[in-house]
Amino acid sequence: MKDAVHQTFYLADYQPPAYLIEDVTLTFRLSPRATRVLSRIHFVPNPDTSDRTFFLHGEQLTLISAKIDGHEITPTLTDTGLTAEAPDAPFTWEAEVEISPETNTALEGLYMSNGMYCTQCEAEGFRKITYYPDRPDVMAPFSVRIEGEQPILLSNGNPTASGKGWAEWHDPWPKPAYLFALVAGDLRATTGSFTTRSGRDVTLNLWVRPGDEDKTAFGLQALIDSMKWDEDVYGREYDLDLFNIVAVSDFNMGAMENKGLNIFNSSAVLASPETATDANFERIEGIIAHEYFHNWTGNRITCRDWFQLCLKEGLTVFRDQQFTSDMRSASVKRISDVLMLRARQFREDAGPLAHPVRPEQFQEINNFYTATIYEKGAEVIGMLKRLVGDRDYYRALDVYFQRHDGHACTIEDWLQVFEDTTGRDLSQFKRWYSQAGTPLLHVEDSFEDGTYTLTFRQETRPTPGQPDKAPLVIPIAVGLLSPDGTEVVPTTLCEMSAATQSFTFDGLTEKPIPSILREFSAPVILTRQASNAERAFLLAHDTDPFNKWEAGRALAKDVLIHMITDGNAPDSAYLDALKAMVSDESLDPAFRALAIALPSQDDIAQTLHASGVVPDPMAIHNASKTLRQATAEHLADILPDLYAANQVHEAYQPNADQSGKRALAGAALSLIARLDGGKQAQAQYDAADNMTQQLSALSALLLADAGTDALAAFEAQWKDDRLVMDKWFSLQVMMAKPDDVADVVTRLTARPDFDMRNPNRFRAVIGALGGHLAGFHHPSGKGYELMADWLIKLDALNPQTTARMSSAFDTWKRFDEDRQQMIRAQLERIMARETLSRDTSEMVGRILA
Ligand code: ARG
Ligand code: ZN
Repeated sequence: MKDAVHQTFYLADYQPPAYLIEDVTLTFRLSPRATRVLSRIHFVPNPDTSDRTFFLHGEQLTLISAKIDGHEITPTLTDTGLTAEAPDAPFTWEAEVEISPETNTALEGLYMSNGMYCTQCEAEGFRKITYYPDRPDVMAPFSVRIEGEQPILLSNGNPTASGKGWAEWHDPWPKPAYLFALVAGDLRATTGSFTTRSGRDVTLNLWVRPGDEDKTAFGLQALIDSMKWDEDVYGREYDLDLFNIVAVSDFNMGAMENKGLNIFNSSAVLASPETATDANFERIEGIIAHEYFHNWTGNRITCRDWFQLCLKEGLTVFRDQQFTSDMRSASVKRISDVLMLRARQFREDAGPLAHPVRPEQFQEINNFYTATIYEKGAEVIGMLKRLVGDRDYYRALDVYFQRHDGHACTIEDWLQVFEDTTGRDLSQFKRWYSQAGTPLLHVEDSFEDGTYTLTFRQETRPTPGQPDKAPLVIPIAVGLLSPDGTEVVPTTLCEMSAATQSFTFDGLTEKPIPSILREFSAPVILTRQASNAERAFLLAHDTDPFNKWEAGRALAKDVLIHMITDGNAPDSAYLDALKAMVSDESLDPAFRALAIALPSQDDIAQTLHASGVVPDPMAIHNASKTLRQATAEHLADILPDLYAANQVHEAYQPNADQSGKRALAGAALSLIARLDGGKQAQAQYDAADNMTQQLSALSALLLADAGTDALAAFEAQWKDDRLVMDKWFSLQVMMAKPDDVADVVTRLTARPDFDMRNPNRFRAVIGALGGHLAGFHHPSGKGYELMADWLIKLDALNPQTTARMSSAFDTWKRFDEDRQQMIRAQLERIMARETLSRDTSEMVGRILA
């Protein structure tokens, strides 16, 4: 094993910066392999500390010159930055460095994508641009001059001057370096405008490469909707005259909230009906909102240090979820969010990568842009809102924005605002930020003399580094139904804080049926095994849409698990209940589409493992397939009508109403394909004029083993559209039979258009490999070996994306001895690499530990 030891950073070690910055001026002379960056920075001693160590971060920089107050100096250079003697008084720092954007394949700092220059600085990428205190608690106004031959030269804030080959920008709002951005390229704007409620006219530009102009309208409208929503709901206005969004093809994440210049992965912003699915449109709307909302929750109020990442991410995810609920269907949004939370965050929380919402240590902060910090972070805000109530929540937010505007804050600051405005003691609630692991919530009930009692017991299992867990505050929303189906107790909040706690409901005439954890009021695992009769009852009668869906899901899971563990045949009571629900036209089609979907195979593996059974991926695959076939047969007589009734006859709109219908018709189509060999799917494919229907038809055809022609036609039609071809790549892996997955991946990765430097393309294929339970965990071990091969190859180019994708292995301890040994061998092979990045070494090390 290699001996490079990477430094670990601890929350407990926080020290305020020795120097603060009054203002920064940067000049960029762009050149692919020899960009010059000139900096002029006014430093002042920080009055809050006596420390006068002058340290500037800097990585992969060639220092040309450095001056303090006009005098040339020779700083001491290290791998991570420089130190120098500095005055205990205000002074001016000037430096010139050289960097090479063209060879920067890590896509962090200043890099090139398809001939255009762009930046990604969060979290610690600015140090690859120039020497700087690259920490979020150092905030400053930036002036930027860009010299380059590209027609469009952009940076943060407002444009101040420009001429042929140069442009100057000024951002008056003090910001940390991670919010810096620069873009230079041949770009075309789609322009719009928004007038804020106090009358500021804001120009909105969505910049794309020539040829993509037809994919900008939706993103621009989503931006306008977001700006309006943040005014209406949070009272937050935009604060510059210009808001730029740029689409970039090569990007490690979804998007980035740089002040006034958001940079987006093209997959997170470009959309037209022909090229994007309904799901793509919804995701784009959510990400545009997310980045825009960061202007207040992230930019105006930022994080003191990176341990506080959830301060901006959890809150901003919560806000974008609220936005989507308002724009579309709240119950469908809640179900989708919980599906995602369980698939990604619960998985993370149950394995070797578990960490608190506010982690206390890291080696590479990029490894902590996780489902726990984002999604569980949002759940924690949702619980807080439920506990204090809507009115107090918005009152507290007003105080938060007022008190902390322009500051770099902590979770303590955030909770203090709630304590001050509501008078509540949140010390126990705060454990949600420090304690990792998903709590199990056990329930018992009893009924006596008209009183119904629910007794809850909470239990959080040990996670890495945290053997002992303390009780959390858990808001449990409960409703009670009488056996005739009427609701006798409407949704009531049980505030649990003890390890075991009872709640009583009296004045009842008969024992009610409980609907527990309505709206999924806390991110916990309810262990209660209701009878299937009770689940069928809730599926039919629960007034809470989330729990109605949940009852159906629990039924489906139970059926699948018994098929796997006891060799049962598909349960006809479940199939009857499903049929009744699917034909119930009073239910939203989108809801019905969600209810038809089976639990994911990974979800079943997770559930089996939690109940002490070693999951067999092949058995899970086969049971899912058998149940789908049985569903198709059981529903055969209603499928044609269901399909026909949910056709959309108006012009394509990516709205909730139409997309719900297309989702339900698509679900029906995939069942029909199991009965008719793909005839209906081929007809839909041939007639499709939008990507949602084209793709659902293609996937139904693949399911029926009848997709060869359509795959070729799709490729011929879309070979020049990278984003659409990503779908073509990933669908083939997703739909491959377990025995074929490795071959399909090998074939696809040998194609000249498999460009591993492009994270979207890499994820489309290798991400789909990791997501194919039975293919990845194939008994031959080929899936593991392929994954490791590709992670090793990519690590040399792009550590960030490699490290993220290494989490494909994080469930390895669920599986049998043979598989564990094969996985361990691959993980150790990765670890043994001489030049493994800090990113991947930290992740693989944690997975192995
Ligand atoms: N702040 C961005 C967002 O949530 C994510 C950027 C993270 N980038 C990274 N390299 N870690 O929208
Ligand atoms: Zn974010």
